[in-house]
Amino acid sequence: MSSAGPGAREALETRESHRTGCGHTAVVAGVGGWVPPRVVTNHDLSARLDTSDEWIRSRTGIARRHVIARDGATSDLAVEAGRLALKSSGTAEADAVVLATTTPDHPCPATAPEVAHRLGLGGAAAFDVAAVCTGFLYALATGQGLIAAGSAERVLVIGADAFTTLVDPQDRSTAVIFADGAGAVVLRTGDPAGDGALGRVFLGSDGSRSGLIQVPGGGSRQRAKDRSAVGGDCYFRMHGQETFRQAVDRMATASRDAVGSAGWRLRDVDRVVAHQANARILGALADELDVPPGRMLSNIEHVGNTGAASVPLLLHEAHAQGRLEAGNRLLLTAFGGGLAWGATTLVWPRLGH
Ligand code: UT7
Repeated sequence: MSSAGPGAREALETRESHRTGCGHTAVVAGVGGWVPPRVVTNHDLSARLDTSDEWIRSRTGIARRHVIARDGATSDLAVEAGRLALKSSGTAEADAVVLATTTPDHPCPATAPEVAHRLGLGGAAAFDVAAVCTGFLYALATGQGLIAAGSAERVLVIGADAFTTLVDPQDRSTAVIFADGAGAVVLRTGDPAGDGALGRVFLGSDGSRSGLIQVPGGGSRQRAKDRSAVGGDCYFRMHGQETFRQAVDRMATASRDAVGSAGWRLRDVDRVVAHQANARILGALADELDVPPGRMLSNIEHVGNTGAASVPLLLHEAHAQGRLEAGNRLLLTAFGGGLAWGATTLVWPRLGH
């Protein structure tokens, strides 16, 4: 656990310098996460795909993952995680719901209004954010902005994805990686010097590489109504090797920016909560940042890559298991399709369960 120590004044000044609008600071007040009960192991996948437990474990670090029910949808995951985050925050209220997802229940409308309705938050502002696996960090920045501008006092920020509904079940390079789940945090207005205050969220994108991760068909470019042209192109496709390199570079750069902005040094970071894309990416990121591997939190072994849910689901799990303690200095970072990436910092607050 870290105490305030050197850099605390700079951190406070940095946080204050990033206050905008009415100048309210967004503070994490609750956390929740949920995965559907059905578990699919590597052995289950090997029975129907040309792959093996050995390949999947050694190349990705994944042993099993959770898969949504046949009649389930992303909103079902988001509602469960959102409910737990609200409970952890000690109140059932929020005046905005921001949902990061790549697998909305329907192409139109957004899924967040239904989630808000089912959580008893009808009337709250509710909308989706599309930034693939970095979606949660984009949604977090959006919630922080709503609070800073005085447009909301409590924001429920959810990352939820049902990626198994989007991957080609016959594509062994994606079907073994992606999985389903949801995670959420509650943001409220708070003290910039207090625990839980979000640092500046560093975000970036590179649309020149949009083809590295893509669902080619079903949008306005290849229209869903022209079924003959779309065919199997409605599945998620990824160029793994180049994506891997980009993931390490982009998360490392964003992480350095976020840690510097907080007035910390990388060695001050107690826990890194990075997007769980591949255990080898986490290892390469730890090397790149010179962070001891023991500070890299991970749950990829039993949940796989859950897209926008990845970071908040890991926060929830680590909090529930006592692997996060109040006062820990956290670095959050993510990367994914777009390309898009981001990072931010916070000191973990004392939270309920
Ligand atoms: O979450 C958003 C961001 N996503 C990422 O950051 C993912 C980044 N990429 C990766 O994690 C890795 O690139 C993968 C896990 C997707 C692939 O691992 P890799 O070590 O880069 O494998 P590769 O694509 O270079 O493929 C190596 C071999 C190929 O066979 P040949 O051509 O050498 O004969 C693939 O066909 O492994 C083969 N392969 C498989 N073999 C068994 C690919 N998938 C599988 C599989 N089982 N599931």
